[in-house]
Amino acid sequence: MESPKRKGIILAGGTGSRLYPVTKALSKQLMPIYDKPMIYYPLCTLMLAGIREFLIITTPNDKDAFKNLLGDGSKWGIDINYKVQKKPDGIASALILGEEFLNNSPSALILGDNLFHGENLGKNLENASGKIDYSTVFAYKVSDPERYGVVEFNESGEIRSIEEKPTNPKTKYAITGLYFYDKNAPKKCKTLKPSKRGELEITDLNQLYLQEKKLKVSVIGRGMTWLDTGTFDSLHQASSFIRTLEKRQGQKVCSPEEISWRLNLISNSELEILAKSQEKSGYGKYLLDLLNEKSHHY
Ligand code: G1P
Repeated sequence: MESPKRKGIILAGGTGSRLYPVTKALSKQLMPIYDKPMIYYPLCTLMLAGIREFLIITTPNDKDAFKNLLGDGSKWGIDINYKVQKKPDGIASALILGEEFLNNSPSALILGDNLFHGENLGKNLENASGKIDYSTVFAYKVSDPERYGVVEFNESGEIRSIEEKPTNPKTKYAITGLYFYDKNAPKKCKTLKPSKRGELEITDLNQLYLQEKKLKVSVIGRGMTWLDTGTFDSLHQASSFIRTLEKRQGQKVCSPEEISWRLNLISNSELEILAKSQEKSGYGKYLLDLLNEKSHHY
């Protein structure tokens, strides 16, 4: 029997209060990172990992705006569903909200404000995604690990411990906002108790997997970029980073139209239609130029 396909959950809820007043009327995950809405980036990361079915978790206020932007995903050859999270009650609660959608499939949960970029990222993620008997977290070396979940390794490079926002981090390796879980994650989340900040913590779920020896860590190397975009400065930095790269290379980072076309999820004529509807901004012109390329290779 073919094993069930991994499904993606993008968490785009939350109040975005660290970006007030900018996010008072508009979801954080719809803010621009240079030339695209923020949610394009995590969506593309999961597309590159081979995922085709998505659930986007939003607030009641923002659901329609996300739907206006992304629709049901068919324009990009994927399937997008929506679910509302009434109040921000933790990252792990996303898996409970997604239980029906997942329907016993393994999952890839990504935070809507996380940006990943780098050569072969898709291949590496696709490889990890194929492992459905255990769960995988991704670690990345940062200068400020105390802001994140932090992982400590044993001699064989496996996880020794995980701590959420420790005052004295044991390593500089932060756990990123991308998690591959086996099919049992929703059930496990239901056994979690809210933390001091009143949330179901993703680190507590990871601890459960760790206790069962069912959690692996994959280190994202220094040649890759991982940024989160939760503050004014990090938002600005991410925009500058994408702008610099795109200007230099003449290639866009995380354009869902381009990725779905390169993955053969949409045809040349479908890409052309998407391009023409966005020609004025230059974004569409970029997509039209792709059609003149000789090959689909990156
Ligand atoms: C959350 C997780 C933390 C993880 C981080 C990644 O932090 O709790 O373990 O390292 O996302 O972005 P929060 O966004 O809740 O501060």
